[in-house]
Amino acid sequence: MQIKFSAEPSGDAIAYFAYEGEKGVEFGDGLEAGAEAAFRRAIGASSGFKGGAGQLLEFLAPDWSEADRVLLVGVGKKKSIDDLGWQKAGASVVRKLLVSGARTLALVGPPDRAIAAQLAFGARLAAFRFDGYRLTLKPEKKPSLGVVSVVTDSTAGARSDYAPLAARAEGIELARTLVCEPPNVLNPETYAARISDLAELGLEIDVLDEPAMAKLGMGSLLGVGQGSESGSRLCVLRWNGSKDKKAAPVALVGKGVTFDSGGISLKPGPGMDEMKGDMGGSAAVVGAMVALARRKAKANVVGLVGLVENMPDAKAQRPGDIVRSAAGKTIEILNTDAEGRLVLADVMWYAQKKFNPRAIVDLATLTGAIIIALGHEHAGLFSNNDELADRLLASGKVEGEPVWRMPVGPGYDRQLDSECADMKNIGNRSAGSIVGAQFIHRFVDEGRVWAHLDIAGTAWKPGNDNPLEPLWGTGWGVRILDRLIADHYED
Ligand code: BES
Ligand code: MN
Ligand code: ZN
Repeated sequence: MQIKFSAEPSGDAIAYFAYEGEKGVEFGDGLEAGAEAAFRRAIGASSGFKGGAGQLLEFLAPDWSEADRVLLVGVGKKKSIDDLGWQKAGASVVRKLLVSGARTLALVGPPDRAIAAQLAFGARLAAFRFDGYRLTLKPEKKPSLGVVSVVTDSTAGARSDYAPLAARAEGIELARTLVCEPPNVLNPETYAARISDLAELGLEIDVLDEPAMAKLGMGSLLGVGQGSESGSRLCVLRWNGSKDKKAAPVALVGKGVTFDSGGISLKPGPGMDEMKGDMGGSAAVVGAMVALARRKAKANVVGLVGLVENMPDAKAQRPGDIVRSAAGKTIEILNTDAEGRLVLADVMWYAQKKFNPRAIVDLATLTGAIIIALGHEHAGLFSNNDELADRLLASGKVEGEPVWRMPVGPGYDRQLDSECADMKNIGNRSAGSIVGAQFIHRFVDEGRVWAHLDIAGTAWKPGNDNPLEPLWGTGWGVRILDRLIADHYED
C-alpha cells in the first residue's frame, strides 16, 4: 500500500476525525460542506457515537459528498490524545476499509505535519498482511486499498516527519513476516541467507557457521541444533552510524529458534505449530537493525542472533547431557525444551567478548510462564541496571509495547545449581521466567549493563483487537528497540 501526503482530500473513501468533548462530539478540521449537519443527524439517531477512541461511523454514497464512503472516527478527548492515539486512529480506518472494495482513502486529521505523519504510520502498520501463501484467495478477500493519502498543510514537512517512521515500519514488517514464515521455509540456513541480503541496506553482516562456532567452543548453542537437518548459524549485523566509529556499541541479542519441538523433551502436540514463532526475539533484533539502517541512525549498534532448530533425532541432545559453553562454564541439560537460554548463553558471550558493548539487551520467547504472569499485554523485563530498565519502561510505554519489570536475585539463581556441572538448564517449577532470566544472567560479565525481555506472550498473539497489530506475528520489539536507541544512544 502506498502512503502519500496531500493538501486536498480525494479518494473512494474519506475519513474525518471527531473528539469526545465536554459537551458532546467535537469535530476536527477540514469538514466538507454538508458533512457536519449529516454527522450531527447520524449521531443523534441513537448511534451511541461520542467521539471515543475506536468509535467509527460509516456513510455509504452520501449525497453531500463526492466520495463513495465517508467515515467519522472517534479519537477520544482532545487533551489526552497522543502519537499512539493518532496511529491507532489511522490504523482503525485502514483495518475497516482494507478489503472493503475501496481503493483509495484520504485521512483528514489536524493539518499539523507531525500528526499527519503519525496517521500515516498507523495506516501503514494496519495494512500489513501475510498473504504470500494464500494462492487461491478470492479477489473479494484480497486487500482493495492501494493508496492512503493523509491531508496536511505541510506535505513536505509531513514527508520528512514520516521518513523515520517509514524506516521503522519496514523493520516491523520484516519482523512480522519472519515470525509468520513457516518452519519448513525459514530454517537457520535460509534465515541466515535472508539476513545476509540486508547488506544492501548498508549493514555489515557476518555469519558464523557450525565449524566457526565449534572453533569458538560454543557447545551450548550447537547442542540445541545438533538434532536438526539444518546447520545452526550465528548472524552479526552491525550498524556504525555514530561519528565515532570506534565507540562501544549497544548490543541487541535475539533468540532465533526457527522451530522448537522441545527436542527429546518433546512438547505436546496441540499448539506445537506456534513454535515456528520461537525466533521472535531474533526477528525483533533484525527488524530493529533494518529500521536503524533505513533511517541512518547516528549510533553504533550491533545485532546478534543465534539461529537453531530444536528437533528430536538420533543425533539430538539428551536430557542428562553435559555441554561446555564458550564462556567455559558447563551446563547439565535436564530438559531439552529449555533451549533458548542455551542458545543465548553462547551468543551473549560472543557479544561481550567481541564488542565490549556499553549495554546489552536480549529478547527471547523464553518461557511459557511469562504468559501465565503477564498474559499478552506486557513483555517481562529483567535487568541488573535501573537506568536501562527505566529507559525500556519509558520506550515501551510511548511505543505501545509495554514491559513490566520482574525481580532478579540470588535466591532465584540458586535454583540453577547442579550436582554434576556448573549449572543445570532448568530450576524447580517456581518462578520459571525469573529462573530463565537468571540463567542468562550467569553469562553476563560482572558490571555489564544488561536487560532481558521475555516476549513469549507478545511476539505473536491469538486474537488481537489492537488495530496497529496484525492477527499473528506482531513484530514486537522493533519499536521499543528503535525508540531506545533514538532517545538514549544517538550522537
Ligand atoms: N519457546 C518456549 C517458550 C514459549 C512457550 C514461547 C509458549 C512461546 C509460547 C521455550 O523454549 C520453552 O519451551 N520453555 C519451557 C521452559 C521449561 C522447560 C523450563 C517452558 O516454558 O515450558
Ligand atoms: Mn523450548
Ligand atoms: Zn523455545
